[in-house]
Amino acid sequence: MNNAPIGIFDSGFGGLTVARTIREALPQESIVYFGDTARCPYGPRPQAEVQGFVRQICGYLREQGVKIIVIACNTATAAGLAMAQREFDVPIIGVVEPGARAAVRSTRSRKVGVLATQGTVDSGAYNAAIAALDAGVQVTSVAAPLFVDLVERGLREDPEFETHIRTPEFGLAHHPEKEAAAAQIIQTALAPGVDTLVLGCTHFPVIEPLISRVAGPHVRLINSARETAHDVMRTLELRDHLCEATHDPVYTFATTSCDPQEFEQLGEKIFGASLDRIHSVNL
Ligand code: DGL
Repeated sequence: MNNAPIGIFDSGFGGLTVARTIREALPQESIVYFGDTARCPYGPRPQAEVQGFVRQICGYLREQGVKIIVIACNTATAAGLAMAQREFDVPIIGVVEPGARAAVRSTRSRKVGVLATQGTVDSGAYNAAIAALDAGVQVTSVAAPLFVDLVERGLREDPEFETHIRTPEFGLAHHPEKEAAAAQIIQTALAPGVDTLVLGCTHFPVIEPLISRVAGPHVRLINSARETAHDVMRTLELRDHLCEATHDPVYTFATTSCDPQEFEQLGEKIFGASLDRIHSVNL
């Protein structure tokens, strides 16, 4: 048994979709979440720069005494997972391999689309991870930086964003030009025969209803959060590092944002629980 917290990080809010799934799967576990909001987005940055961020944040999380680290950001996983696994002494889990695994299991046509950031697409991480599982699966990866912006701006500017995104008239009522551009990006990822679409960015599950509506009912969407949570559980279980059944979880948040209050308000919507302890951190 080990009551130390699980460390989770992302470039901002997106990783809270993964943190929420981990919280729901392992309700007794404490979590330390780090959102690097001041340097978000990671997507357009060079890989070497993002790798440096991964090194810094893993160092911070180790100082907080975490027993495992989840890189809840596809771009950071693509750039820095292997380096972090080599340099740190706790298990480190990324989100690309769990998403690739779920996609390979899901596809019948063996044609998979991936929506991700420019950094993730350029790294070829999904193509490599899917090929390692089934070299016969064809992958079409498309960069969708617009979606990151849609989520960030939507959460900031529209207090009812999460409700609005679920309504079919969302595009017409709120962001018509964006829904049209979004449709074009999604259609590009849906090459002929694609039956499975990976949400290869942790921001995208927030707009899953919109993506699903545009992709249509015959396309399965893969949100790697569930697979990632399962990997975390299995890793802790095998090491006998799950916390005690009676353990009272503590959720601590750190952000590089100069406005931790905003992080709290927006973060709560995605995490689905209150963000009680928030620290402003300057790395
Ligand atoms: N969270 C990042 C990811 O999953 C997307 C946002 C960013 O570009 O930093 O790739």
